[in-house]
Amino acid sequence: MNKGFFITGTDTGVGKTFVAEGLIRAMKYQGLSVCPMKPAETGCRVSKGQLVPADTVRLMKASGVDEQIDTINPYRMQKPLAPSIAAEREGVCIEKRLIFNAYKKLARKYNVLIMEGAGGIMVPLYKKYLYSDLVKDLGLPLIIIARPGLGTINHSLLTIEAARTKDIKVLGLVLNHTEKTNKDISQKTNPEIITQIGKVPVLGIIQYMPPSDKDKSNIVFKKISTKLISQLH
Ligand SMILES: Nc1ncnc2c1ncn2[C@@H]1O[C@H](COP(=O)(O)OP(=O)(O)OP(=O)(O)O)[C@@H](O)[C@H]1O
Ligand SMILES: [Mg+2]
Repeated sequence: MNKGFFITGTDTGVGKTFVAEGLIRAMKYQGLSVCPMKPAETGCRVSKGQLVPADTVRLMKASGVDEQIDTINPYRMQKPLAPSIAAEREGVCIEKRLIFNAYKKLARKYNVLIMEGAGGIMVPLYKKYLYSDLVKDLGLPLIIIARPGLGTINHSLLTIEAARTKDIKVLGLVLNHTEKTNKDISQKTNPEIITQIGKVPVLGIIQYMPPSDKDKSNIVFKKISTKLISQLH
């Protein structure tokens, strides 16, 4: 049974956490209990001798869940590297069983799980086990966060193709403006081209939103969230 969604990106820094936060808030507003998961987080800063996983903290705050951080984020590393490499360097042994068990436990408890990857789906989680393998093994449908401008056709189609080779269901793309600039004319033509060639819908286009712009963000995320909720069964 599909209890959630996996949020990947065409790259790092494209807005996976930002969109996940927005969707979590929107789904909660629509009456669902929503729990995030970030199986592995790298690039964590150290505070008082502890690693702080910034994305996990943001996602937990958006959801308001009262769970152990180790359940939501079983693995965290300091080095800003792909999880498999950071884990190797830091002597962390990533076991997919632990991630599956945390997922199963949370899936029993909440209506929806929103899982964020690291970078894109071809990033190795441990050794040669990629995030795409995890998505496939968990049976989660994919939402791809992509940049809106020049270059996104290639990155988006590559991600869609990589997902399809593993029979992962791609629900759609979210084109997200992480910056204010709006001068790239390809932004107008990209959604249609990606939809036509990739045969996946663009679920929404998120404009750059300064923190004060909360009302606008609510509307866009509610629209995307309504489309996603209809996919749950
Ligand atoms: N639509 C937006 N409006 C304003 N700021 C945004 C928007 N989308 C993303 N950002 C900001 O851009 C930065 C990168 O976004 P985010 O952290 O969500 O990316 P990510 O894909 O999760 O990165 P990572 O690969 O490190 O997990 C963050 O500071 C975030 O707050
Ligand atoms: Mg993130």
